[in-house]
Amino acid sequence: MDELLEKLKTYLTKKNKPYVQNVAKDLEIEEYQVYGLVEMLKKKGYLFDIFEGQIVKIKPVKENGVYQIPNNLSKIKLLLISDTHLASKYDRLDILRYLYAKAEDKGVNYVLHSGDLTDGLKHEGQMYELKETSYTGQRDYVIEKYPKSSVPTYFIAGNHDLWWFKKCGADICKDISNQREDLHYLGSDCEDLKIGKLKIRLRHGSGGSAYARSYKLQKYLDSIPMEERPHILQTGHIHQSFYMKQGKTHCFQTSCLQDMTAFERSMGFSNDKSCWWVNAYMDDKGNPVKIQQELENFDKKLIRR
Ligand SMILES: [Fe+2]
Repeated sequence: MDELLEKLKTYLTKKNKPYVQNVAKDLEIEEYQVYGLVEMLKKKGYLFDIFEGQIVKIKPVKENGVYQIPNNLSKIKLLLISDTHLASKYDRLDILRYLYAKAEDKGVNYVLHSGDLTDGLKHEGQMYELKETSYTGQRDYVIEKYPKSSVPTYFIAGNHDLWWFKKCGADICKDISNQREDLHYLGSDCEDLKIGKLKIRLRHGSGGSAYARSYKLQKYLDSIPMEERPHILQTGHIHQSFYMKQGKTHCFQTSCLQDMTAFERSMGFSNDKSCWWVNAYMDDKGNPVKIQQELENFDKKLIRR
């Protein structure tokens, strides 16, 4: 059955809104099996459904300010990334491609991205550090080059993405998401999502660097009322990795996937390149009981393929 599910997942990355009868024919299975497989995908958290005989992708639903993603798995595998700053001359699409290939191999269920998908045009002199200087150039760069994957990505906008919005009201993340069904845009700066019963908050933030890498994350956690605290808090913006656990909340400060820029060097900012691989385990009622993480660092790795 797992093999058939994998086949269907791969098939659905290549075909747009296929008819059930065509899927059954192409995969050499019965139509009722296709209905069953789509139900299994839904239970695993994939946002597919069948309408009028066609398999369609659906958007996550927001209820009471929280995106709801159905999932009944006993183990949810996540890849946490941030600050890809795409269209910068210093972006690392090679690492991103490596990570998505690895995520597929590891059976990761979701990739979560905590903002600064694009580099924007935020500070003076930044145009000399860009591969694309225009809104449409950066938008199309991401639509074309961001790795296409059967693993869905949920992301928020960071302060660099929001530069366009502040200047002229254009939401580059929304525009990108509208053209890429595997990239689900949740909103700007801070959004909550619930995968099954696992509560996650994605947050970007703004402002300069702090005197210690843990400072902003600690202060931010303190600002969240106890009853609102998620199981996983993922933050971006600082370009430095850090982990801590307080109460039930596992806090992941996710660094960047961009080489140090001339601007960062001149400002004396530090810059880690890394990601978090996270496994969340549920009890038989679906409540999160254990969260484990592993940091993968790229500072000394030259992938470039
Ligand atoms: Fe950033």
